[in-house]
Amino acid sequence: MSKPNMPIILETQNLTHVFPDGTVAIKDINLQIRTGEFVIVAGANGSGKTVLLRHLNGLIRPTKGKVLLEGEPISKNITAARKQIGLIFQDSDSQIVGQTVAEDVAFGPENLRLPPEEVDRRVKTYLEVVGLSKLAQQSPHVLSGGEKRKLAVAGVLAMQPKIIMFDEPFTGLDYPGVVQVLRQLVSLHQSGHTIILVTHELEKVLAHADRLIIIYQGKIVEDGNPQEIIGRSEQYGVRMPLGKDEGVDAMTWLK
Ligand SMILES: Nc1ncnc2c1ncn2[C@@H]1O[C@H](COP(=O)(O)OP(=O)(O)O)[C@@H](O)[C@H]1O
Ligand SMILES: [Mg+2]
Repeated sequence: MSKPNMPIILETQNLTHVFPDGTVAIKDINLQIRTGEFVIVAGANGSGKTVLLRHLNGLIRPTKGKVLLEGEPISKNITAARKQIGLIFQDSDSQIVGQTVAEDVAFGPENLRLPPEEVDRRVKTYLEVVGLSKLAQQSPHVLSGGEKRKLAVAGVLAMQPKIIMFDEPFTGLDYPGVVQVLRQLVSLHQSGHTIILVTHELEKVLAHADRLIIIYQGKIVEDGNPQEIIGRSEQYGVRMPLGKDEGVDAMTWLK
């Protein structure tokens, strides 16, 4: 289900990134994402997915082109854009900043200079949401892979962004971890968030998505209805869902 009547929340215009060594990571990406959409971005290794996500919340600057949030260039106010657009990194370890789980979640809201009571409230709320309340006083480094990813989700949620982007959130997770992250994704979408999910594990999420975008060598080569596109995905190095693996079980289990 696409969302043709919803306003465009995020847009890129001719977004291009060339690294100093000459690598053209993404080229002339024109993308419009509507409020409440659940968009999957797929593509082979090195196709430019992570570079694209990093542009979408202003972590890197374009060589050419721009990113607009609700019609305004994010470069005008990167801090405001980051508040609205959360990114959960592929490597959860690199996102950990706190000495304890609770401190880690507090980091974002503290940076927003919210009053301490509000910070505490958000820490409690979002640890609850991801199911980590019991581990609040633990060191993040003792958490499992799945728990670390949930911690990253809580940290992003605590900023109360409208758009949440996930870069390969299933990497390195065992089956229960996958199911838990998947549940989180679906429930965030149901609560009205716009979701942008980078993954090559399409079988785990395809049934939930409104839209599938395929990137190939830094360019968008497909963008539309997942069921229509999936049949053409293999030529771009994106594996077809197998249909009978644990990912499908996970989806069935969720419903
Ligand atoms: N810091 C960098 N310097 C040079 N090239 C880079 C750098 N980071 C990424 N690249 C290249 O940019 C392209 C896109 O990378 P990336 O977005 O990470 O791909 P993926 O789709 O696997 O996430 C790849 O060719 C990658 O090698
Ligand atoms: Mg990547």
